[in-house]
Amino acid sequence: MHGLEKISLEMEPPAEEPARQYYFMAKCREWVRRFEKKNGRRPCFFTQTFGCQMNARDSEKLSGILREIGYEESPGEEADFVIYNTCTVRENANLKVYGRLGVLHGYKKKNPDMKIALCGCMMQEPSVVEKLQKSYRFVDLIFGTHNLFRFAELLYTALESDRMIIDIWKDTDQIVEDLPVERKYPFKSGVNIMFGCNNFCSYCIVPYVRGRERSREAKDILREIEHLAADGVVEVMLLGQNVNSYGKNLAEPMTFAELLREVEKIEGLERIRFMTSHPKDLSDELIQVMAESRKICRHLHLPLQSGSTTILKAMNRRYTKEQYVNLAEKIRRAMPDIALTTDLIVGFPGETEEDFQETLDVVRRVRYDSAFTFIYSKRTGTPAASMECQIPEDVVKDRFDRLLKEVQDISKEMAERFAGTEQLVLAEEPNRQMEGYVTGRMGNNHVVHFPGDSSLIGKIVKIRLEECRGFYYMGCLV
Ligand code: SAH
Ligand code: SF4
Ligand code: F3S
Repeated sequence: MHGLEKISLEMEPPAEEPARQYYFMAKCREWVRRFEKKNGRRPCFFTQTFGCQMNARDSEKLSGILREIGYEESPGEEADFVIYNTCTVRENANLKVYGRLGVLHGYKKKNPDMKIALCGCMMQEPSVVEKLQKSYRFVDLIFGTHNLFRFAELLYTALESDRMIIDIWKDTDQIVEDLPVERKYPFKSGVNIMFGCNNFCSYCIVPYVRGRERSREAKDILREIEHLAADGVVEVMLLGQNVNSYGKNLAEPMTFAELLREVEKIEGLERIRFMTSHPKDLSDELIQVMAESRKICRHLHLPLQSGSTTILKAMNRRYTKEQYVNLAEKIRRAMPDIALTTDLIVGFPGETEEDFQETLDVVRRVRYDSAFTFIYSKRTGTPAASMECQIPEDVVKDRFDRLLKEVQDISKEMAERFAGTEQLVLAEEPNRQMEGYVTGRMGNNHVVHFPGDSSLIGKIVKIRLEECRGFYYMGCLV
């Protein structure tokens, strides 16, 4: 509790943050009390996250605030307040949201007091907001990525109004600390270390919807992780679009490797993960810190996107095929047991069969433990969208299928290499298919199912990997 009771609502709202948002949380809590009196129950909320871990963490901030003001979580979408935290990285992420909105409209007809809110990356696109204003009038609140910290204030405005409330900022240099946040898992948590992206890969919309790169102060990050560790968190995932450029714009610059060294010292914390590493900024210092660390997981997600130097140049990735392969080899030499994973795009404008073969070649040489494969999606406003030679759909689909097969065959072979070994596994959840089993993750992110009960959840246990079944293992406690 943050003492919302003590906040005087007679006063004008304070101008500074986060005090202003706590003031509006107190206002919302009054509203919740009135609701409770009238309806004999508390209002309930439902959040739905689309997109990446960064969005997932943002949704935890939304839930944190909703709980703080007295909402209860609803198991389904027929709730008093529904918020979609949207993603726009590929076209199909957008389409999903429009589809689901139709269903929500049906619920709202049954419960006219229901409020529907949309936030996240999609809302930073003016064409999306125009479409919502025109054809989705039943949406009550729309805000973007830069003013998420003002959620309490926006929610209060929406609760008190019948109009569609829209508040989108073009950019921000603000980072507001110390707002409530709820964790989905008691034992692991994402932690933002930076926001935005300055890389402008030519296919990617993220820099336009998330704004310029801003790093959080190391002391704020460390304090957050110390609190999490004291609260039972054993694993953190440090989040940023390009963690390898962490700290460059701080008043006292600091490298990502230096930050990791500090995080490592935090007592109680057992595992450190991070996402995402851009190959162009991955330093020898980082490899060394990883190799020496006891807590940093032996897993590196290193998006390749394409194996063709020509396409990489057109993508503005700023590394060549050879540089990438050399980097991967250097990492494997320093940490032979590391799992390498990646993101791949097929069908980028101008991609020839030869370019595609280069991608397959890197996949075969690096041998990824797993890879996310994407079909290139044209994003309005990005340089690639107006490039000539967009690739026909059937050609892309054929390349996609061939790539997926290659990636999956290699993943299976790679997984085999740990069979028979003993590994430390964080037990994460009861297995939904097999009664009496729990599911956990090794440091290298491989999934393991083993006999056990819910008392193990959140604990790191030693497991013998008895059998590899394609992408996961069956094991037992030792
Ligand atoms: N910052 C991270 C990636 C964020 S987006 C990085 O640079 O690695 C996650 C993945 O989505 C990207 O790695 C890329 O493979 C994919 N992606 C981004 N834009 C895309 C587009 N327009 N079409 C298809 N895939 C895309
Ligand atoms: Fe997009 Fe490139 Fe930034 Fe990743 S690094 S978010 S792919 S622009
Ligand atoms: Fe999507 Fe935004 Fe993440 S566009 S991938 S949710 S940064």
